[in-house]
Amino acid sequence: MKVLVADLFSQAALEEMSNSGIQVIYNHALNGDSLKAVLQSEAPEVLVVRSTKVTGDMIASSPSLEFIIRAGAGVDNIDCVAASKNSIYVANCPGKNSVAVAELVMGHILSVDRRLPENYSLLKQGKWNKGAFSECTGIKGRKLGIIGLGAIGKEVSIRAKSFGLEVCGTDPFVSSSQAHALGIEYFNTAEEVARVSDIITFHVPSTPQTKGMINSSFLALCKENVVIINTSRGDLANETELLRELEAKPGFWYACDVYLGEPAAKECDFVHALAQHPKVYGSHHIGASTKQAETAIGLEALRMILQYSKTRKVDAG
Ligand code: MLT
Repeated sequence: MKVLVADLFSQAALEEMSNSGIQVIYNHALNGDSLKAVLQSEAPEVLVVRSTKVTGDMIASSPSLEFIIRAGAGVDNIDCVAASKNSIYVANCPGKNSVAVAELVMGHILSVDRRLPENYSLLKQGKWNKGAFSECTGIKGRKLGIIGLGAIGKEVSIRAKSFGLEVCGTDPFVSSSQAHALGIEYFNTAEEVARVSDIITFHVPSTPQTKGMINSSFLALCKENVVIINTSRGDLANETELLRELEAKPGFWYACDVYLGEPAAKECDFVHALAQHPKVYGSHHIGASTKQAETAIGLEALRMILQYSKTRKVDAG
């Protein structure tokens, strides 16, 4: 079986793949036309990607392709309609990066509260200013709202509670009794969570219902000093309205790992209004980028490839 891995991937899993007799082509710089060209020239049966887009055009022009694995949560970067039309299996690796994303969320919460980036930056400029950060609130006893109580939302709640945050949340697929069993105050809607929370973190997939949900009307319901965290998908935010609200509400901060139209390339220039804004702390879509998460995802991808090569079917992990 020939597998093309077209995104940054666990070295350990790549070695395991080769040891299992799989022919692996690893090129994490591929995207767009270069990915399409390699799919045609190498004719792999399996394609593994993280956030690189797999378009209908690529799929239609790659007759060798039988199976696409999204090495992450969700399948929103894959044209699943085209895959289905061409009888190509699509699978993802849900849950394997939950801890890594939850850890990043805690990092963003603490960074905003203690203004860590400014702390670092002043010291790097050779300046000492202990008084500049005396307004930091502290997070104990404040309320964290979690929109989306799936695997990642649950990991966030566990970590948040250990920091003394009160946790509430909403999820159409989780009942109030399930949430209460996890020590999470349950609300039926995101709007109700918005009204009571000091910090709100989003853990929902990108769907027609969630796209643009971080918008003026949502932010109008939030507290003046709310902190919003988005490590899910860039298109959850209506960035024009978000930027306007950042200007209008001096106490409102935003921290994110994802951006509308973020680059497909792994390394390039990136000048983005949100990332540049002084009240936005941004990271480089690194939510799943820990060795632990990459290994778990890599081994799950390997399990699926091995099963597929024997049975032409894949079970959920
Ligand atoms: C995910 O959805 O799991 C991540 O966003 C994948 C990635 O790191 O590109």
